[in-house]
Amino acid sequence: MKVAFFSSKTYDRESFEKHNTFSGIELTFFEAPLNPDTAGLSQGFQAVCVFVNDRLDAPVLETLAGNGVGLIALRCAGFNNVDLAKAAELGIRVMRVPAYSPEAIAEHALALILTLNRKTHKAFNRIREGNFSLEGLTGFNLYGKTVGVIGTGKTGFAFARIMLGMGCQVVAYDKYPSEKLKEMGVHYTDFNALLKTSDIISLHCPLTPETHHLFDTRAFRKMKLGAMLINTSRGAVIDTRDAIEALKSHKLGYLAIDVYEQEEKLFFRDLSESILQDDTIARLMTFPNVLITAHQGFFTHEALGQIASVTLNNIHDFSRGLSSENEVRLG
Ligand code: NAI
Repeated sequence: MKVAFFSSKTYDRESFEKHNTFSGIELTFFEAPLNPDTAGLSQGFQAVCVFVNDRLDAPVLETLAGNGVGLIALRCAGFNNVDLAKAAELGIRVMRVPAYSPEAIAEHALALILTLNRKTHKAFNRIREGNFSLEGLTGFNLYGKTVGVIGTGKTGFAFARIMLGMGCQVVAYDKYPSEKLKEMGVHYTDFNALLKTSDIISLHCPLTPETHHLFDTRAFRKMKLGAMLINTSRGAVIDTRDAIEALKSHKLGYLAIDVYEQEEKLFFRDLSESILQDDTIARLMTFPNVLITAHQGFFTHEALGQIASVTLNNIHDFSRGLSSENEVRLG
């Protein structure tokens, strides 16, 4: 079973080679992302292994199908980058890694909150330059604050549990409330009430037509003045241009994003010697109360190991014609 592995990085190769105990699975690592220009590389492969910013739209899927690719093995949970209807039409199966250490993402959301709030990134730089002043570093206690969680699936659950442990009041919005979280003290409410009452809001919902630009000017207007917004889900859940306006007007007090609407042109690459072409992220980078990380929520040893072993099992199931609970189907 030959697998073309797109968007590969050193850490992918290390974890996949370590966990590939299947003699029948042969991985070929391409650094290039999968898109219409690179889809031709799939010639001679039965499966492609892809990540969050690889593009699996209709033209790419047609090339894959023409080259005999029968499986898209997503090494991530989200599948918003795959045209599922087209894949089904072409008979290409799609599998994913539904859960890999949700605690990794939840803990990263906490890291973003603490960094933005207590400004440890600024203190680190100051101290290195011999500046021991505390001016401008004032933060706030998390204890007793109201934290709103949008989406209480795996990562939202882990995040809510952490915030309860910090002594916060946790409110949540999800069409499918978790009984366990309710027992733990989380209060479910509607979207508008969550916006109105939360000091901090953390996003843990998938990107769907319903959640696309869920946080736009209308939502920012309903939020508490100076509230903090954390996004570790998918970039387009926030309308970035509206977020910039909300920051400029001081309505939004803090913003931390691990995901960005146009991240496929930026993230996972060293662009430090390039001229940044994205004026929106360039503007965001100028705010003292904005923190950006480049989609590293998942990036722990534990999560990388789980991603590799589940993805390889998915490929193995496909090669043996087995059904899989990790298969992504339409609807
Ligand atoms: P999940 O599927 O376990 O939970 C998602 C929850 O969101 C579900 O409870 C669902 O009912 C809820 N939901 C769906 N639509 C909603 C809406 N309109 N409003 C409120 N809630 C809604 O997914 P999981 O594992 O918690 O991941 C969430 C998202 O986080 C993924 O879809 C993915 O896009 C992103 N993610 C980001 C990572 C990172 O490295 N930053 C890593 C892993 C996932």
